Amino acid sequence: MSKLVSSGLSKWFGDLQALADVNLTVEDGEFVALVGPSGCGKTTFLRTVAGLEAADEGAVYLADKKIEGPGRDRGFVFQQDSLLPWRTVMENTVVGLELAGRLDATETARVRKLLELVGLAGFENYHPRQLSGGMRQRVNLARALAIDPKVLLMDEPFSALDAQTREIMQTELQRIWEEGRKTVLFVTHQIDEAVFLADRVLVFARRPGRLLEDIRIDLPRPRNMATKRRPEFVALVDRIWRLIENDVRESVLVEKI
Ligand SMILES: Nc1ncnc2c1ncn2[C@@H]1O[C@H](COP(=O)(O)OP(=O)(O)OP(=O)(O)O)[C@@H](O)[C@H]1O
Ligand SMILES: [Mg+2]
Repeated sequence: MSKLVSSGLSKWFGDLQALADVNLTVEDGEFVALVGPSGCGKTTFLRTVAGLEAADEGAVYLADKKIEGPGRDRGFVFQQDSLLPWRTVMENTVVGLELAGRLDATETARVRKLLELVGLAGFENYHPRQLSGGMRQRVNLARALAIDPKVLLMDEPFSALDAQTREIMQTELQRIWEEGRKTVLFVTHQIDEAVFLADRVLVFARRPGRLLEDIRIDLPRPRNMATKRRPEFVALVDRIWRLIENDVRESVLVEKI
């Protein structure tokens, strides 16, 4: 089992408290979305789970093991695509396996299947500059999945995409997740994206960054475009928006140092 537990997690950057006493549990195979105003600590939380930031108080545990640094049990998909321009799609996807010295014929075959899963079959030999933004994010996703992590950490992975591509990627991500049922932590600013994808939406508040509410999303799966027009869906989006409305307004209008 690979339950993820954040226990009393706090984090400071100098005098600024980025995270205050974050307590939460994510079950194995759960899809959890994190929303909240700019600066509430979503990225900091994800980076701490990734082992890229150290906790000042408390800790995060994965499968009962304290997280003390990066590891191949966690895959990270960043907001900007971070593909190596001189490498092909295939070469970019296998980079983690290569670093781990695990790249052999079996693994290469598995990665080919993964590229198929994310809809990139036939593009293995393309370079990033020959791909659209949506395709590049698919490569990023395939690369994170290639190391076969227990947990997938996604920080606003679709924010650079146009509205239509983004809608398609949401449905695609749901399909891919259904296939492997990895634990996912997904950060987004778009509340309807969070409700569409997640089993639970964690609402964060700012100054200091903290967990405000943990909202279960019981909409049936698989979800599709019509789901977004259901009254339950609209009501959930509305409820979450109300929770962060004031905070967002403040973060936009009266940003203070
Ligand atoms: N390396 C750092 N050094 C100093 N301060 C930092 C650092 N990283 C983050 N912070 C501060 O911590 C707070 C939380 O930042 P974080 O990036 O986690 O917010 P966020 O919720 O991801 O915001 P956004 O929605 O804009 O991406 C912010 O006030 C930010 O300025
Ligand atoms: Mg962020």
